[in-house]
Amino acid sequence: MAGYHVAVVGATGAVGQEMLSILQERKFPVRSLRLLASKRSLGKRIPFRGESLEVEELKRNSFRGIDIALFSAGAERSKQFASAAVKSGAVVVDNSSAFRMDPKVPLVVPEINAEDIRNHNGIIANPNCTTIITLMGLYPLRSSGIRRIILSSYQAVSGAGAWGIEELRRQTLEWALQEIKNATMGTDDKAVLRPEKFPHPIAFNLIPQIDVFLEGGYTKEELKCLYEPRKILNQPDLQVSATTVRVPVFRSHAVSVHIETERPLSVARARSLIRKARGVRLHDQPEKAKYPTPVQVAGKDDCLVGRIRKDETVPNGLWLWIVGDQLRKGAALNAVQIAESLLGTTPG
Ligand SMILES: NC(=O)c1ccc[n+]([C@@H]2O[C@H](COP(=O)([O-])OP(=O)(O)OC[C@H]3O[C@@H](n4cnc5c(N)ncnc54)[C@H](OP(=O)(O)O)[C@@H]3O)[C@@H](O)[C@H]2O)c1
Repeated sequence: MAGYHVAVVGATGAVGQEMLSILQERKFPVRSLRLLASKRSLGKRIPFRGESLEVEELKRNSFRGIDIALFSAGAERSKQFASAAVKSGAVVVDNSSAFRMDPKVPLVVPEINAEDIRNHNGIIANPNCTTIITLMGLYPLRSSGIRRIILSSYQAVSGAGAWGIEELRRQTLEWALQEIKNATMGTDDKAVLRPEKFPHPIAFNLIPQIDVFLEGGYTKEELKCLYEPRKILNQPDLQVSATTVRVPVFRSHAVSVHIETERPLSVARARSLIRKARGVRLHDQPEKAKYPTPVQVAGKDDCLVGRIRKDETVPNGLWLWIVGDQLRKGAALNAVQIAESLLGTTPG
């Protein structure tokens, strides 16, 4: 029987679940599939291609006979187990931040730098979700020489993991229940929205902190957006600055992006370049209220770009609004595309 022996590490998580859907949708040539997660998930069963597969506990010997290991169980697990997978003969596509900036590890968005996959030593890294979505909107404009990017992101709660969805859902329900109680009892009490894992209530709020604060007042998430684009675009001098914000949206990240280019780039030319590019679609008719929104791209593969306009305050400045499903193109889809590119099985 033809095909590959595949392991999904973190199969019960938000990204892992999306990977399983994408492997099925794209008819990835899976010969056998091993689902790996923590001890907590032992014995859980997950459907795949009409079969019910049992989740196994991730161990160093989990990779015997595996050709491709798709990791999405956090950086600590990747650091701990990726080398065991490689030693067993598997190629690892890693969704965590563990190896992204390692010079020996390619950091790949297949539409942009698929050729870097050839230089792998057993591990290929998937970039940060906001980095991927931003670059999907910008890569068609590369011929104008992008030299500076300033971005502000509006990131969905599922970007934090399955628990993020649960925390927003719970707080929204608590708010709604209080409203119903007030309406029926004639009271005017405020719901107390208790944060569990986010540092503040996320329902009806914005949190300008994703992950921990590091150097220069930037968060770890922001520093990923600063450094990863330089490696992917092979532009060590690219200037990037970022503010990343968690918003009460279940799925899909939106990014407000300002760029400065070496050469003039008109709005019409930018639109035309984006129209012709792969994996990205133009959605830009503001007069008809046509611009991308997170709800619109949820569950879709392509990233959408709209609100393209000149910034007249600098010589070659342009604003764009880029939105993508971070569980798909920002994580699971990009990882599966890397595997397809590696194996030469990209669907026609
Ligand atoms: N969510 C996103 O939008 C997104 C985007 C890009 C990259 N990523 C990256 O993808 C990775 C997974 O994110 P996620 O959002 O899917 O998180 P998640 O929903 O919290 O899922 C985490 C997964 O890791 C597993 N896991 C946790 N501890 C483990 C352990 N000790 N041993 C084995 N498995 C363990 C969990 O298994 P149990 O169910 O058994 O606990 C679960 O399957 C992270 O590195 C994240 O940074 C996420």
